[in-house]
Amino acid sequence: MVYPHTLRIINMPAVLLVHGGAWAIPEELAKASVDGVKSAACEGFSVLRRGGSALDAVEAAVRALEDNPDFNAGHGATLNIDGEVELDAIIMDGRTLACGAVSSVKNIANPVSLARAVMEKTSHVMLTGRGGNLFAESIGVGSVPSDSLVSDHERTEWSKMDNYDAEVLTDFNSKWAHDTVGAVAVDSAGNVACATSTGGIRNKMVGRVGDSPIVGCGGYADNSSGAVSCTGHGESILKVTLARLILSHIEQGKSVADASQLSLQHMSDRVHGAGGAVVVSPSGQWAATFTTKRMAWAAVEQDVLWFGLDPNERLKEKLSQ
Ligand code: GLY
Repeated sequence: MVYPHTLRIINMPAVLLVHGGAWAIPEELAKASVDGVKSAACEGFSVLRRGGSALDAVEAAVRALEDNPDFNAGHGATLNIDGEVELDAIIMDGRTLACGAVSSVKNIANPVSLARAVMEKTSHVMLTGRGGNLFAESIGVGSVPSDSLVSDHERTEWSKMDNYDAEVLTDFNSKWAHDTVGAVAVDSAGNVACATSTGGIRNKMVGRVGDSPIVGCGGYADNSSGAVSCTGHGESILKVTLARLILSHIEQGKSVADASQLSLQHMSDRVHGAGGAVVVSPSGQWAATFTTKRMAWAAVEQDVLWFGLDPNERLKEKLSQ
């Protein structure tokens, strides 16, 4: 007898999909956002092309987005009410449901890799604030100066606005939205994984944690249904456990696109929240869906790079092998 958790699908076409956050991306950031997600998707997919795991691929893709100051994660993260960077991240392995997360950590350039270390080197799922930083120090993850994570753009935007609710209403076009980064992948063995990383929402209270590092909210991965990474208004995503909600629709037979749309619509109807998600199934179906004005996303499937920014936009480029 073969038990479901031992099932292995060999030589599936691998797929990797990233998002750079769902929000009202202004025109001046449009090109940088699209270029950034395309480059991160290629970086993550290069891991899969070499026969690497979905877990390694989503970590590589999210690290690329954290290193890019045009996105709200790692370098370029938003500032809290005190003008500090506090970072949240999660990573999850769909083979075993192993997951690791960090919340409100400071001075860390790549929180996604610290989240992975929590998963692999501790008996816990999440470390927060000082505990996350002490753990980083104990395993030799170097800290970086706070200022090195702050982009000029973020410093300027932060100095214009000092109220969280006004921030969300004004900058996110009257929608509860903002940006975050994330990736999902399925590798050639049919294993799925997700990773999500964020600086949260500008002018958040000190210690505020959104959906991103919370299992089942900012991300979830399970080989039996798929992998999801979410973006959007964290307080809304938390209330509807968006990542798990999407997967529960898939478990009930919905396509990845329908499951994403139904779940985001539910979040809008029930708590007036807007956001987005990237989803991949173990068989390689994928979808990038959002209810905000824009979301930069990119996917690599075999030798094709798909990408988009505006609703219903699905552009493609052939990749050289
Ligand atoms: N979705 C990320 C946050 O609200 O912090």
